[in-house]
Amino acid sequence: MVDTRKIHSNKHNAKRKPNPRKSAEPLVGNISERNDVKILDRLVSWYREARESSITDLNYVLERELSGAMRFFDADAGTIYINEKSETMGNGLRFAYIKNKTLSINDFNFNYSNKVIPINTESIAGYVAQTRSVLSIPDVYLLNESTPYGFNKSFDLSSGYRSGSMLVAPLFGYVSNFLGVIQLINKNDESGKTIPFSMEDGLCIEIVARHVGGALDKALTARNHTLNLIKVATTFDPHETGAHAQRVTNIGMEIAKEMKVDFYIKIQLREIFQHGLILHDIGKIGIPSEILQKNGKLTESQFAIIRNHPLIGYNYFSGMEAPFNSIPAEIALNHHEKWSGNGYPNNKSHFQIPLSGRIAAVADVCEALCSRRSYKEPWPFEKVCELVANERGKQFDPDVVDAFLAVRENIYRIIMRDQVQIS
Ligand SMILES: [Fe+2]
Ligand SMILES: [Fe+2]
Repeated sequence: MVDTRKIHSNKHNAKRKPNPRKSAEPLVGNISERNDVKILDRLVSWYREARESSITDLNYVLERELSGAMRFFDADAGTIYINEKSETMGNGLRFAYIKNKTLSINDFNFNYSNKVIPINTESIAGYVAQTRSVLSIPDVYLLNESTPYGFNKSFDLSSGYRSGSMLVAPLFGYVSNFLGVIQLINKNDESGKTIPFSMEDGLCIEIVARHVGGALDKALTARNHTLNLIKVATTFDPHETGAHAQRVTNIGMEIAKEMKVDFYIKIQLREIFQHGLILHDIGKIGIPSEILQKNGKLTESQFAIIRNHPLIGYNYFSGMEAPFNSIPAEIALNHHEKWSGNGYPNNKSHFQIPLSGRIAAVADVCEALCSRRSYKEPWPFEKVCELVANERGKQFDPDVVDAFLAVRENIYRIIMRDQVQIS
């Protein structure tokens, strides 16, 4: 009988014969030193690409940082979760950004998700958030009962995706404040096959996550400053809150994206457009609080005073250096103008109203109708869409209405986003 073990062993040995060409190559240090050089090399080239930019727009930063990390680790997919405090459930992880090359998810479509994951050991991201430690899992489907965390298959089941290897790390800000979690999924080898993340990846993720955390911290701080400014500016008006301003902004951005307008496509302008949307009602700061807070019907002269807020807002921006303030000034001034010409303050019509103002007008009306106010219940989203469609070419620019209706599903998500669901 032939001893196959021997044959195999001989074959194995034959393969291991020293290769004269290879042994002639000069050796730089020992194996571990060469590995260190490799890691350093990867980190240096990643850092060159990822070095800080002055852009602090949150969506842009999420896209840039998640893409950079996915490239660095050859990951097929990734998620960034942001740690958020909710009134009903304490702290949780909100899906902030998702990318998936195989499923071609590369957009904001998932980013108005209202899903919040509790910070506990039931999920992988929750476990990382709770323990503040890095996890590298060769295959999430091979997790057994002994692991303190579990893998939630719902995304795979609904999308047909097969998650395999995962590298997950906590994100910290500049003063080590916990900001969220980055999750990288399915490392690909050169042939596109999913393989586990390497030991080296496990070391590098800490440095990459530090950078991502820093960039995120800056973006979140900038956004929160603006939102706080809105809150202060609108404290006097119970109808206009930071949440209203944020939703008007998100709706306006969706419309602008669909219309492929310049101030969406050019990233620097996008940030300015976003600031303009969020600050559209800044002029309310100049309206006496007894008028803004009045319960019940306003008199005609009180209405006339409220109608000054676009001009007050415009003056607020035009006092500052252009061009950074030109789009916000335009939006503040024109968001109550109507396509038909009977809006305020200047009764402009059609293309006399700048596009930014025409977009803001639809976003503002939609958000106000969908929200609860002291004098009315929220309208059902379908009814709001009907009104917007009916006002096509009357109150609103027809092109803006078409874009609004084309992205209505995303707008619905924006409206629903603050009604937190626990998954
Ligand atoms: Fe307004
Ligand atoms: Fe508003």
